[in-house]
This record gives sequence, C-alpha cells and structure tokens, in this order.
Amino acid sequence: MDRKAFIAACCAIAATALGGGGAGAQDTLKIGIVMPMTGPNAAGGREIVDAAKLYMAQHGDTVAGKKIELIFRDDASIPDNAKRLAQELIVNDHVSFLGAGITPSAMSMAPIATEAKVPTVVMISGTSVVTDRSPYYVRTSFTLGQQSGIIANWAIKNGSRKAVSVLSDWAPGAEAGKVFEMNFVKGGGQVLETLKVPLANPDFAPFLQRAADLHPDTLFVFVPAGQAGTFARQFAERGLDKSGIKLIGPGDIVDDDDLPTTGDTLLGVVTAGFYSAAHPSPLNKAYVAAYQKATGHRANFISVGGYDGMHLIYEALKKTGGKTDADAVIGAMKGMSWESPRGPMSIDPRTRDIVQNVYIRKVEKKDGQPWAVEIATFEAVKDPLKEAAAK
Ligand code: PHB
Repeated sequence: MDRKAFIAACCAIAATALGGGGAGAQDTLKIGIVMPMTGPNAAGGREIVDAAKLYMAQHGDTVAGKKIELIFRDDASIPDNAKRLAQELIVNDHVSFLGAGITPSAMSMAPIATEAKVPTVVMISGTSVVTDRSPYYVRTSFTLGQQSGIIANWAIKNGSRKAVSVLSDWAPGAEAGKVFEMNFVKGGGQVLETLKVPLANPDFAPFLQRAADLHPDTLFVFVPAGQAGTFARQFAERGLDKSGIKLIGPGDIVDDDDLPTTGDTLLGVVTAGFYSAAHPSPLNKAYVAAYQKATGHRANFISVGGYDGMHLIYEALKKTGGKTDADAVIGAMKGMSWESPRGPMSIDPRTRDIVQNVYIRKVEKKDGQPWAVEIATFEAVKDPLKEAAAK
C-alpha cells in the first residue's frame, strides 16, 4: 500500500472510531501482535504468543466492557514483514493496540504506529533506542544495558580483570557489549577482544576457541533467546566449562527455556537478569506452574514480556474506561506499576521504558535440574543508556 492509501485508510478507521461503527466494532477491541514465529528468533515468538494466551485464559477476554480479541502475525524475524503486517493489522483488522517483538521488527513498525497513532507494547526488544522511535511505544521486556552494566560491576567486584566478549552480531548484542565494556573498563578491567557471532544458525566453536586462546579470566557472552542450548553444548565440547574461565552475561545465556537441556554445563555461571523461573515469589510460582501446564515448557524471560504486556493493556483500558485514544492510553500506561512474576516493575513516565529489579543469579541444581537462583537484588533499575543521555 502506498503512503496516500495508507493515510486514507487510517482516516477511515478514525472516522469509524469516532462514530458510525457498528455494535461489533464498538464492543470488540483487537490487539495485533507481530512476532517472529519462524526464522532465527522463532523461540521468542512462541513464548510471547503462549504467555499472552495464558494471560487471557487467566484474566478473561473482557475488560472495561470490551471484548478483547488477540490476532497473531508471523513476521518470520524479517523487519519488512513486520512493517507490512502492522499496516495490514491497522487498516484491515482495525486493531486498537499492537504488540512488537524483536529489535529490527520493532524499529521498522515504529513509523506505522506513530502515523496511525496506535499504542504499541514492545514485548521482546532489548535495545534502548527502540522506545525513542515512537511516542506510542511502551516496553514490557527489558534492556540489555540494564543487565550488562550490573554484571560488569559484579565481575569487577569479584576479581575479573581481563575479559573477552562473545556477542551475537546484531543490535542487542552490540548494546550488551557496549554497556558491559563501559562499566568493566571504568572498574579497572580490560576487554581483550570482542568477537561477533552471526545471528542465524550460529557456530560458536571457532569464536570460543579464539576466546580461549586469548587467556581471559572472564568470558562475557550474549546470545539471544533460543540459542543458549547450542551455546552451552559447544562451550562444553571445547572444555571451557572446566577451564577456570568465568562465564558471565545478561540473563539470556541461562534462558529458562533451554536450561533444563544443559545438564551440568552451566552450573556456577553467574548472570545479571530480570527474570528467573526460580524467582521465589508466590505469584511467580503460580505463573511457572500455569505456563508449564499450558505449554509443556519452563517459563522464561521472554514470556513475561508478553504476559506483562497484556497486563499493561488490560490495566490501561480499565483506567481509560475502555477508550483507546492513543494519547489517553499512553498517559494511562506512563508511571503504571505492578507486581509481575519477575518481581516489582513499572513504566518510566519520562521514557515509557521499563523499570525493574535486576538480580544476580547463580546456576544451581535443584531436584535434578539447573535453575538460575537469585543471590542479590538491584532494585528499580532503569535503562542506563537513556539515563546517561538525559544527563
Ligand atoms: C531483541 O530483539 O532485542 C532481543 C531478542 C532476544 C533476546 C534479547 C534481545 O534474547
């Protein structure tokens, strides 16, 4: 669709919303969720879809007098698809909300959300800049910076001085590496080398060999959801789990979706993450049990972005009395705080970005399976790159 046709279609939707719509259009609100259900990030897409469905199964399909309908679309991890699907969801399906997934897709959807004024919940992306791309973007996932700065400081405090970074070669990897290095160097450490691993079908072996040859005391690793299992296997095949080199990272390397398959390989690994299925709150225990029952998988850090994204939409609708006007909805979302399975969280009213606890976790075996067990808590952590830019 060209730009003119798109604007005309958006005007038609606005006119419908203002008056002449039929009863069905008045009473049903659609949420269009664009996720990577195939392609390199397919695991993340599955987790969001499962968690959003679980939220609705638990909280009902009616809120503020409106019936909620979820529509899922597969962008195949390709940003151009995400943009086209977002347009179609707005123009053809008349969605009132969008859900956005991985960073490249969320970036490409942003101008569409802005132009059509559709409140959009960012449910996977962990790259700081994404929420700056549209005034109608609000994030319920995480930022890599939130976790990478804290693990750098923790590593320095615990004696690390020479690190090698192994990063998945796309925006979130670059950001994890950047914030890690900033804090690690500030603390007196040195990053000997930064190795970038292709995102699709990664073979970590040559990178791990190179990293080992540099004799670091610490390996800082970011791999995205869906790759922790492969990474752990290749890490063990090189004997790196027995090398004495400390493996650290943001939470992604101990993804709960993969941890049960990693045996003893990741035992003792310390990460800074915002979600562990082992988080000991009653709310999380109930969430993990319900997710396991519904999907056969252990709930992970991606899933809570979808679950909390649905919560944010439901609560915003309660506040606006069912109105979906973008400015009213975003106004309702700003500053909202609640208890998530991850712990307490809120939406920063200034940046529309997520504020949440970041936990230091150590992988331990409980009942025969590895879990990321929380050993320290940093409360109400904001995205450090946004905070630095505001100074
Ligand atoms: C992202 O899209 O920014 C992203 C995806 C998966 C991750 C982390 C970041 O594990």
